Amino acid sequence: MSNPLCFETRDALMDAAAERIAESLENALKTRGIACAALSGGRTPAPAYERLARYDLDWPRISFALVDERFVPPDHAASNEGLLRRALAPALANGAEIAPMFTPDLSLHEAADVANARYAHLVFDIALMGMGTDGHTASWFKGSQGWDEATSADTPRTVVAVRAPDAAGAPERLTLTRAALGRAARVELLITGEEKYRLIGGAHMSTSLAPAGLLFHRPVRSLQVLWAA
Ligand code: 6PG
Repeated sequence: MSNPLCFETRDALMDAAAERIAESLENALKTRGIACAALSGGRTPAPAYERLARYDLDWPRISFALVDERFVPPDHAASNEGLLRRALAPALANGAEIAPMFTPDLSLHEAADVANARYAHLVFDIALMGMGTDGHTASWFKGSQGWDEATSADTPRTVVAVRAPDAAGAPERLTLTRAALGRAARVELLITGEEKYRLIGGAHMSTSLAPAGLLFHRPVRSLQVLWAA
């Protein structure tokens, strides 16, 4: 695997992830005047987001996008937006914003179109990815409806709908496309545990082993793996 950054403890990993996101946001504020980080949900990254929210950044000029979303409202326990709202509460209270993927009262595909329009103009200064023990990243699930477009390197779409019957939390998903991820200035993959380490070691050798293997290839510019046991 290309140069994974391995940390002694999960605390050190979360500190580093928060620092790397903050650094990307600060650099973007200097060069672009605004900044945007695309963040994953799942169980792993919340401690990094809680640390990030304690940084003294120019929050009103910072927005957060979702890497992917379960098709449930923000007050649902499975909602990634809900997770971000809880973990990033101090930053949001100080003026940062979240660009939702979920919209109520719409079908999955209608909501995907709304999110696609909302996300089309966003510049991702960093995208923080996670990975499931089945090897999925974002909501790129093998065999799902929507897989082809979600993992297309060339689609003009930024957000697409996915139906993945076995996906945790919710089978209906909205996700950034692989092409959209190619527009991110930095892409980092935050994983913990021996099982995911072994999986990503194999995944980068063969994209047929795990969707996360796609992160090692174009159009993603470069991938930094961050890991602790
Ligand atoms: C989601 C995620 C997803 C996540 C992995 C890892 O909504 O499912 O954004 O891609 O990163 O499933 O999840 P854990 O951190 O819970 O293992």
